[in-house]
Amino acid sequence: MPAIKEIDRVSFPDEQQYPDGLYDSLLSAGPLRAVVAEDTGAVAGYALLDYDSQPVRIRSIAVAPKQRNKGCGSALLQRLVQTHDALELLVEKDNSRAIRLYERLGFVFVERAEDGDPSTGSLRDRLRMTRIIR
Ligand SMILES: CC(C)(COP(=O)(O)OP(=O)(O)OC[C@H]1O[C@@H](n2cnc3c(N)ncnc32)[C@H](O)[C@@H]1OP(=O)(O)O)[C@@H](O)C(=O)NCCC(=O)NCCS
Repeated sequence: MPAIKEIDRVSFPDEQQYPDGLYDSLLSAGPLRAVVAEDTGAVAGYALLDYDSQPVRIRSIAVAPKQRNKGCGSALLQRLVQTHDALELLVEKDNSRAIRLYERLGFVFVERAEDGDPSTGSLRDRLRMTRIIR
């Protein structure tokens, strides 16, 4: 859990960090589950899945900065598409690196998904992408 939180902390800006409580809920039998990629026993990356969503939503995916560009993110997503009938995710529309990765794994653009509060400047312009497998 500390490794996942640390990768989250260095991978996303403050306003996009999940509260500790959300990660702690992974330890109970709730709808959130994490899949991790390991390199010689250390957590190199993780994906956070929400089974309350239909299709199952990838709430977050990140790889430790030193482990990026070595196929870790692709391996994580590959495992997820092999083990789920359908998946969806939201991605910031300017995160071209992540969008390239999702498209390579067969995700397609569905719609724009604006959320947040424009009055506080926290409006997020994101893309909804899905991968229907079977
Ligand atoms: C997006 C993210 C998860 C990708 O993880 P990653 O482990 O770097 O992904 P991969 O290594 O599989 O692919 C990244 C690139 O490395 C390349 N690559 C993969 N294996 C490689 C290898 N062995 N040698 C050289 N290049 C390689 C891929 O072709 C890909 O190239 P591209 O950027 O031109 O498409 C990672 O950049 C990250 O954590 N970003 C910050 C958090 C984030 O934005 N998450 C997504 C939120 S929606």
